[in-house]
Amino acid sequence: MTDNNNNNSAISSSHPKTVLTYGTFDLFHIGHLKMLQRLKAMGDKLIVAVSTDEFNALKGKRSVYSYEERAAIIAALSCVDLVIPEQSWEQKAQDIQQYQVDIFGIGSDWKGKFDELADLCQVVYLDRTPSISTTEVKRALSNLDSDKIKQIKDGLDSVLSIVKAIE
Ligand code: CTP
Repeated sequence: MTDNNNNNSAISSSHPKTVLTYGTFDLFHIGHLKMLQRLKAMGDKLIVAVSTDEFNALKGKRSVYSYEERAAIIAALSCVDLVIPEQSWEQKAQDIQQYQVDIFGIGSDWKGKFDELADLCQVVYLDRTPSISTTEVKRALSNLDSDKIKQIKDGLDSVLSIVKAIE
């Protein structure tokens, strides 16, 4: 768990308006950054629950970066005040109570999925940044790999045909 201790709660009365979000945040990209900045702008303190590798495995996901690496990247952001591990689907209600959360916020890809938390705090679904996702980045990288492989193969084929022509 990492605490940046940089919240601007001094401007609010006793209790900083606290925003909580969850996610894997693998291969950190601009969509992640914009989401976290918008969430922070909604309150004084932003808590990010980063999915652990074990929880990702449960969700059928495998990240490129480990939990420790992903959590370190998120904790280093100036808009993030605290990083906690996300280890289960069920922990949200307890986290909201423990950290006195005012707003639970997450991308619109989860729209309607966490409405039951509205009994505990405000629930908001924010529009995603278009045309970027970790899945897309992974796909682009794997396409790049197969392009490279094809280039090498084409090169080898032409060498082979030259050798055959000489024989
Ligand atoms: N997010 C966003 N805009 C994007 C991508 C993600 O606002 N273009 C938000 C998600 O809605 C979520 C948070 O960032 O609230 C973390 O999302 P995560 O699932 O870790 O990122 P994705 O890029 O969506 O990853 P994947 O493709 O693996 O689902």
